Amino acid sequence: MPAIAVLGAQWGDEGKGKATDLLGRRVDYVVKFNGGNNAGHTVVIGDEKYALHLLPSGILTPGVVPVIGNGVVVDPTVLFHEIDDLQARGVDTSRLLVSSNAHLIPSYNRTLDKVAERFLGKRKIGTTGRGIGPTYADKMSRVGIRAQDLFDEKILRQKVEGALEQKNHLLVKVYNRRAVTVDEVVDELLVHAEALRPMIADTALVLDGALRRGEVVLLEGGQATMLDVDHGTYPFVTSSSATAGGACTGAGIAPSSLTHVIGIAKAYITRVGEGPFPTELLDEDGERLRRTGFEFGTTTGRPRRCGWFDVPIARYAQRINGITDLVLTKLDVLTGWDRIPVCVAYDIDGERTTEVPMTQTGFHHAAPVYEFLPGWTEDITGARAIEDLPKNARAYVEFLQQHCNAPISAIGVGPERDQTVVVNDLLA
Ligand code: GDP
Ligand code: IMO
Ligand code: MG
Repeated sequence: MPAIAVLGAQWGDEGKGKATDLLGRRVDYVVKFNGGNNAGHTVVIGDEKYALHLLPSGILTPGVVPVIGNGVVVDPTVLFHEIDDLQARGVDTSRLLVSSNAHLIPSYNRTLDKVAERFLGKRKIGTTGRGIGPTYADKMSRVGIRAQDLFDEKILRQKVEGALEQKNHLLVKVYNRRAVTVDEVVDELLVHAEALRPMIADTALVLDGALRRGEVVLLEGGQATMLDVDHGTYPFVTSSSATAGGACTGAGIAPSSLTHVIGIAKAYITRVGEGPFPTELLDEDGERLRRTGFEFGTTTGRPRRCGWFDVPIARYAQRINGITDLVLTKLDVLTGWDRIPVCVAYDIDGERTTEVPMTQTGFHHAAPVYEFLPGWTEDITGARAIEDLPKNARAYVEFLQQHCNAPISAIGVGPERDQTVVVNDLLA
């Protein structure tokens, strides 16, 4: 059995963590391939609730090897906080591997992330302030610091010196902050070197070995298709590749080994941060979705913007990622509405289209065209088979499936692992 990807099909927080955890017992490796501690995955197992940011959700499953891939940006302080927290709760973290090529987030990039946002004013992105954007920018500018650099102090010092030539200009001359010294940055990073050393690996080689032995490798996406730096609502995106192509480069595996691409989509949509969102509800209905869905960010605690399901976006995510199965999450949150609007097209300045707009302007002008489906009132949180769902809930799922070009193979009816209706085996 080869590699499978689990990805967000909307603007994030679709429930990727729960889906990965659900599959965890049947996979051998779980690889985080993009992003960093901007992600927030809540996983509920029995009475325990875990909020993961940097670590792959597979860390919660005994026997799984969790891997932080080369495409991830790692804040070492956060890494060890999360490890310590989990260990204190009895979770075995000893199998964790970290790619020697993963980039590190030095504290100056956290500072730059926050001050850049302040300077942007009303043009801000609404980032998580974790230093993600500046660290990926450094990677592309070839002034990044990688995990492997911690094990050659001379090289580390040279790289920090090179980076600070640029960074201190920005900090002091543009943003009016204090300059940082090479020593303080080197010290800050070296604190973690010895603890990190046993985890560091050529993870692409490890995963190749696993795939050759027929083991199952799950590639877990952070963020989502519409936050992808190439395919999302640029510039209101994150700075990494959250789509299926990014899964391969960010883990270092060949695209031909990917056989399943599982897209996670909420039964409605949420978004955190700025940027266009055609089906956003700015009224009492949005408030109701936020309240019943507990839509507050796992990472920053910000209220999530809420809106109705958007078919053009789901179809776009299917196309960009080659999604083979959809997991529809949080259907339970829609219980109790008389009728549920679904956006099937956009009206853009008088023209109707069923595709995601080609331009940013088009996106900002897109007005949703809704079809209305009848709601249901029955509690569905105990449903485990499709037959357990009321007729109108089944019709809602069927309608989305017909419009999204992919089978809906599982349906979330509550936050817990077993609160899932499995329609098709996701690993078949
Ligand atoms: P991720 O970033 O994609 O992993 O998603 P988050 O964890 O940020 O947000 C999803 C939230 O919804 C979490 O609090 C989950 O526990 C919760 N959740 C996931 N699936 C379901 C579901 O089917 N129903 C309900 N009610 N909650 C769910
Ligand atoms: P998970 O993995 C939702 C958003 C931020 C901001 C934009 C850029 O939990 O789905 P960044 O700090 O990445 O430079 O911020 O991206 N964002 C997310 N929104 N879920 C996430 O992760 C997100 N990670 C980043 O709110 O709009
Ligand atoms: Mg999240």
